[in-house]
Amino acid sequence: MNRDTVRHLQAFFDEYVSGFYSQGEDQENDWAIRLKEDHSQRVRENIIWISRQLLLPEQDILLAGVLGLFHDIGRFSQYITYRTFRDDLSENHAELGVKELAGAHVLNDVSMEERRIIEKGILYHNLYALPEGEDPRCLFFCRLLRDADKLDIWNVIIQYYHTEKDNHSRPAIELGLPDTPGCSQSILRDLCSAKSSLSSAVKNLNDFKLLQIGWLYDINFHPTFQEIDKRNYLKSMVSVLPETEDIKKVAETAEQYLAMHVQPNR
Ligand SMILES: [Fe+2]
Repeated sequence: MNRDTVRHLQAFFDEYVSGFYSQGEDQENDWAIRLKEDHSQRVRENIIWISRQLLLPEQDILLAGVLGLFHDIGRFSQYITYRTFRDDLSENHAELGVKELAGAHVLNDVSMEERRIIEKGILYHNLYALPEGEDPRCLFFCRLLRDADKLDIWNVIIQYYHTEKDNHSRPAIELGLPDTPGCSQSILRDLCSAKSSLSSAVKNLNDFKLLQIGWLYDINFHPTFQEIDKRNYLKSMVSVLPETEDIKKVAETAEQYLAMHVQPNR
């Protein structure tokens, strides 16, 4: 992969996404498309940043950037077709993304190895856990992407709950989940044992926020932990949850885990 190929792929992305805007006729649609376009660009920036922190070779940084940019390419046709970002109510947006790229023949100019990493990276980015038998280099890029993606989803959610929600609630972010009291006992149990939870356990908005706190236990790289700490993500997420004893315990477990992982020389 070279810089020209990356420019060509970025131009494809811009052109492809521009076709999903209604030019103001459907504001909810345009807001949702913008949400995922901006998210894709920021995940690209995050993955490049993590790759640089890890001192990866330039070729790998370029490849990682393309993976970040394309990881959610299935979101656009998913929203246009089903008007939701919920995979369980529509279809798997990762599989959809790989199909969209194949249909557009956009990866014809990259090597077989790079193409495989991009396709597997997309396919695996929304799985609960990565498959074990996969090639180690491919899994490394998958881990980079999963860290970069989570950093930006936290960014979007926190901004939404702290600034925007009071003015306008967004089904594209809240996934149509009810804002009911209480939360799932299975998610609480997972989080108190420093484990991520399955998204199928999410029944309301509290569960949704807790699930995202649990992503901390799926973070892979030291620079990502440092960034979570620097951006104060845990406190910001906990502050939009009810102040119960259970949630205090979730917060303490997560703070301890983060403190342990931000220490140098791990
Ligand atoms: Fe995604």
